[in-house]
Amino acid sequence: MPTAYLAAEDFTAQLHEELRRAGARVTATHDRLLLADGEAVASAWAANVWHDVREVAIGSIGDAAEKLRAVQRNWAMYAPRHHRRASLIQERLPHVSAKPLVFPSPVPTAPLGSWTLLAPDRLLYAAHCASPFANGELAFVEDRDGPPSRAYLKLWEAFTRLGARPQPDALCLDLGATPGGWTWVMASLGARVIAVDKAPLDPTVAEMPGVTWRGESAFALDPASLPRLDWLCSDVICYPARLLTLVQRWLVAGTVRNIVCTLKFQGETDHNTAAAFAAIPGSRLFHAHHNKHELTWALLRSGAAREHEPSTAAGPHHGSQ
Ligand SMILES: C[S@@+](CC[C@H](N)C(=O)[O-])C[C@H]1O[C@@H](n2cnc3c(N)ncnc32)[C@H](O)[C@@H]1O
Repeated sequence: MPTAYLAAEDFTAQLHEELRRAGARVTATHDRLLLADGEAVASAWAANVWHDVREVAIGSIGDAAEKLRAVQRNWAMYAPRHHRRASLIQERLPHVSAKPLVFPSPVPTAPLGSWTLLAPDRLLYAAHCASPFANGELAFVEDRDGPPSRAYLKLWEAFTRLGARPQPDALCLDLGATPGGWTWVMASLGARVIAVDKAPLDPTVAEMPGVTWRGESAFALDPASLPRLDWLCSDVICYPARLLTLVQRWLVAGTVRNIVCTLKFQGETDHNTAAAFAAIPGSRLFHAHHNKHELTWALLRSGAAREHEPSTAAGPHHGSQ
C-alpha cells in the first residue's frame, strides 16, 4: 500500500532527502504531500503520515463526501489545489472540532483521516494517519502574559506529543534557558529548574519558585557535579553535532531520566547528525509544528510520568480532534 507524507511547511526538500536516505521511492508529489511506495518509514520532517492511501474517482461534490463518510466520520482536508471545490466537500462532512488545546491536555484519541483532491475528479484519502491533528498542526491557547518568549510553545508541544511532562517537584536542567520560556513551562508545572545560560533569565522567570540560574556554558557542565535529574532539556543554539556530543556525555553518565532537545540547523540541514539522534534506541525525532528549521529529539525512560503512551510519527493511527 502506498504511503503519503505531508512535509512540515517549508521543509519539503528535507523530507524528500530523508525519504531518499530511508529508501522510500517518491512516486508523485502534490505540493507538500509526497507519495511513496510501501509501508511508512520513519520521517522526522513529516507533519503527518497517511497510511494505506487510496485514490478514487468522484462524480460530484456530494459523491466525494459520501465516499469519505462511508469510510469513517472524521476527516481533515489538505487542499493546496482545487481549494474551493475541496472546501465544498469538507462542508458536507461531519464537523471536526479544531479547538486549540489548553496545556496540559492529552492529545485527542478519535480517528482522524486525511484527504485531498489530486484533480477535480480524483480523490486521494487515508483513514489512518499518524497525527491526531489536522495536517499535523497542533495549536494551543497561548499564554501572552507569563512566558518571556514564544519558545515555550515548542516545549508545550513536545510534552503534549510525548504524553509526559515534569511532575511537581521534579528536578529539571534547562540548557540554553534564556530568556526563560522553557524554564517558565517547567516551573509553572511545579518542577525545580536549574537554568543554564551565559545570559541572565528574564527577571519574572528568575523569581519563580524553584528556579535557579547558573551563568555558565552548557558544554562545560560536568554531569557528576549535579544530582540525578528527572528532565534534561536543551534549546541551546549550537551545531547539532555538538549537541549530540553533549547528549552522549549525559547518556554515559546515566544520571538523567528524560531528555528533550532542539536540533537547530544553521544553513544546511545536517541529515547525518539527525539520523544519529534518531538511531539512539527508544528515542523519537520529530518536527514540531512550532519548530522552525529545527527538530525535536526526545528520550523517555521507564518511570517517566506519562499520561498515556506516546505515538510514533510513522506509527499506527491513534486519534483525531
Ligand atoms: C533559542 S534561545 C533559548 C530560548 C529558551 N529556550 C526560551 O524558552 O526562552 C538559545 C539560548 O542558548 C544560549 N546559549 C548559546 N550557547 C550556549 C552555551 N554554550 N551554553 C549555554 N547557553 C548557550 C543563548 O544564550 C540563548 O539564550
